[in-house]
Amino acid sequence: MKTYKIALIPGDGIGRDVTAAAWQVLEKVAAKAGFGLEPTSFPWSCAYYKETGAMMPADGIATLRGFDAILLGAVGWPAEVPDSVSLHGLLLPIRKAFEQYANIRPHRLLPGVEGPLKARDFDIVCIRENTEGEYSGAGGRVHQGTANEVAVETSIFTRAGVERILRFGFEQARSRSGKLASVTKSNAQKYSMVFWDEMTARIAAEYPDVSVTNYHIDAMAARMVMAPESLDVIVASNLFGDILTDLGAAIQGGLGFAASANLNPDRSAPSMFEPVHGSAPDIAHLGIANPIAAIWSAAMMLDHLGEKTAAAEIMHAISAATEAGIGTVPGKDKTDAITYAVLNALA
Ligand code: NAD
Ligand code: IPM
Ligand code: MN
Repeated sequence: MKTYKIALIPGDGIGRDVTAAAWQVLEKVAAKAGFGLEPTSFPWSCAYYKETGAMMPADGIATLRGFDAILLGAVGWPAEVPDSVSLHGLLLPIRKAFEQYANIRPHRLLPGVEGPLKARDFDIVCIRENTEGEYSGAGGRVHQGTANEVAVETSIFTRAGVERILRFGFEQARSRSGKLASVTKSNAQKYSMVFWDEMTARIAAEYPDVSVTNYHIDAMAARMVMAPESLDVIVASNLFGDILTDLGAAIQGGLGFAASANLNPDRSAPSMFEPVHGSAPDIAHLGIANPIAAIWSAAMMLDHLGEKTAAAEIMHAISAATEAGIGTVPGKDKTDAITYAVLNALA
């Protein structure tokens, strides 16, 4: 029997609830489909930091490298550990070290979910650059605490980094409707985004079958609300993609529905699957987190591992649950009830 080694990092807050839910679904679908999943759970989190002084051990990345995939809940407990410490100590280093440069975030309405736009027919895949750009961590602060203080945060866009994410976007567009939206702010930013636009034009010449449109990030934010059905594949930098995908989550009914895959397309290291949302301290411990985003992310993991039928079965079960009205209204159904409905639909 084929068996996949999965690293589980539940993390903080609702990350623990939603990964537990996703794992139940994964176990059931694997048993049905006849493949094995061998989990190893890592307690790396803000609680772990408070105990040990680090978000993960020094050999954490080396340990994870041996797995077929990573399933993560959420990282961050800002009341006790600054986000700049927790995210730069665990989530962001994994994305970078494993060259998970393509962050895929699908936005569409599940059956029975109305969303704030009232049932608009859209099907968007946002592809977010995931390893550099505005998240490079380059910069510094001088004259701290004085009237002359200056803080600098430098975005780093490399040719290799921009080229590979754009190519990924063009390939995705080619495999879907042939429409690609590239998002920048090249009217205000003079270097990185102008470079991005130039690279887009250069690569577009190799994809005559893909029609590419350049949008500014501000106009794209409005378009996602006003005319989401006009969009298909969106490619954006790390920060712009981050912001647009919370907006995408909102139009699909809320953060509890937005899934994501941090892909290493070259398969030279494990990819990581996690919901778009965070640890949601405001609802942690209440048992009301929507696990659908995490379950959908688990389906993306199976798809990446090549278990296409099992992945499709999970998506079908999620849809059956929401079609029956389970989990469609934020806060109405408990995490367990939604998970149970998905498990039932798999039977
Ligand atoms: P958040 O996504 O945790 O929460 C934003 C809002 O959405 C909250 O009102 C929350 O209750 C709601 N929400 C989120 N997920 C939900 C779900 N599954 N079901 C129902 N409601 C849900 O964002 P935040 O409050 O800005 O961040 C909280 C912490 O999580 C911070 O430490 C932040 O840095 C971290 N964070 C981590 C990740 C990650 O690990 N990938 C992603 C985003 C935020
Ligand atoms: C996400 C999150 C992270 C990001 C944060 C927590 C660093 O918001 O996965 O969308 O910005 O990438
Ligand atoms: Mn985000």
